Amino acid sequence: MEKTSIHGMWSSRTAFILAATGSAVGLGNIWRFPYMTSDNGGGAFVLIYLACIAVVGLPILMSEILLGRYGRESPVNTLIGAVRDSRASRGWVGIGWIGIVAGVLILSFYSVVAGWTLHYSWLYLKQLFGGAGITDPAATFGALLASPLELSLWHALFMVLTVGVVALGVEKGLERAVRFLMPALFILLLVLVIYGATTGHLGQAATFLFNPDWSRVDGNTFLRAMGQAFFSLSLGMCTMMTYGAYLPKDISIPKVGVTVALADTGVALLAGLAIFPIVISFGLDPQGGGPGLIFTSLPLAFNAMPLGIFYGLLFFALLSVAAWTSSISLLEPATAYLVERGRMSRKRAASCVAGLCWLLGLASVLSLNHWSHIQLFGRDIMSFIELIANDLMLPLGGLLIALFTGWALRETVLRDQLTGMPQGLFTTWRWLLRIIAPVLVLAVLVSAVL
Ligand code: TRP
Repeated sequence: MEKTSIHGMWSSRTAFILAATGSAVGLGNIWRFPYMTSDNGGGAFVLIYLACIAVVGLPILMSEILLGRYGRESPVNTLIGAVRDSRASRGWVGIGWIGIVAGVLILSFYSVVAGWTLHYSWLYLKQLFGGAGITDPAATFGALLASPLELSLWHALFMVLTVGVVALGVEKGLERAVRFLMPALFILLLVLVIYGATTGHLGQAATFLFNPDWSRVDGNTFLRAMGQAFFSLSLGMCTMMTYGAYLPKDISIPKVGVTVALADTGVALLAGLAIFPIVISFGLDPQGGGPGLIFTSLPLAFNAMPLGIFYGLLFFALLSVAAWTSSISLLEPATAYLVERGRMSRKRAASCVAGLCWLLGLASVLSLNHWSHIQLFGRDIMSFIELIANDLMLPLGGLLIALFTGWALRETVLRDQLTGMPQGLFTTWRWLLRIIAPVLVLAVLVSAVL
């Protein structure tokens, strides 16, 4: 009898791919990727990013899925089991704890930003039914950030949506949600790319995205591309490990890993192709970056274009959906852990974790207004939490996962999960995990600390 997870199982290969892609594709792809690309040499950044995905991201993604399927429990318990089987040091279980803490931290601010996207969807929905337009986008955005009440309510609504899915469990909640949401996301994105093509600036946007300008590349570009690869693929905090725990045994890990990595990268590129023609055609600066790019520049564009309100609604609905399927995956690992350890119902566990994240998110909310003067290491609270979680904990988690899989796990364990993988590829993968990925990730980590 195949060992299954007490939390449920993905019903098929497609279900897993949709869920894992739903986790990977989020604010990181649609907002952050285009902006990082524009600031880091366009096509050159894209090429380096693709290399990072292939050399560091994909091997670690496979490790996470493999570890999860091997243990079939939440990350902490999966690691406890793996350590026991391989007679490795108990210290490795720390990977699971890093994951839980990082997940709580990331979800706390992720939900705040996702709240902005809900707010904008609502603004456009109201406009569609005759409500007031966004005549001064900078003022509209400023007013939102200045209102702790509004920010925390949208943050709360987003958290409730996330709990709503996670509480229903793997098949009835997560799987059902992504089955509906991922195709919707993809269609929305295609519509926007097609619209972008009609502006006549698709070619310029493509040149901007794919034409490498090596003169703008320095050491930093590599670090940023690597950081983006981690965040975008949802690596380093055991999200993919948790999703792997629900993956049936007969499904090929390398194949689904490659599919998810390609889908994630494809959506990022599509997002760039959707956003840049619009930005360029309205004479806006594609180098602006930051939260402003989407929330203040795009509404200007939407105001000016035919059917702009409709496209504005589509765009922000798209972002909300993308953020939603990602936040589900941020909540699931800690929820699964609480269910396993405490005779706690899934509903209760998800609500507890989300409640904690919501409270913690209030610090990010306040850092945008009343507490904006509070600085930790030269950053406001929200950016500080982002720094700790994204730049330090994710690479650290990824590094340890690579080392643990590469050195501590027995080859028979790996081989049992990777039946059918050609020996050459298997060896390459193992050495990527043992040496190459750790060295590269360490470089990112050290630079983040310095
Ligand atoms: N990958 C998502 C994005 O691009 C965010 C995300 C979801 C994430 N789960 C994660 C990031 C786990 C790091 C770790 O927006």
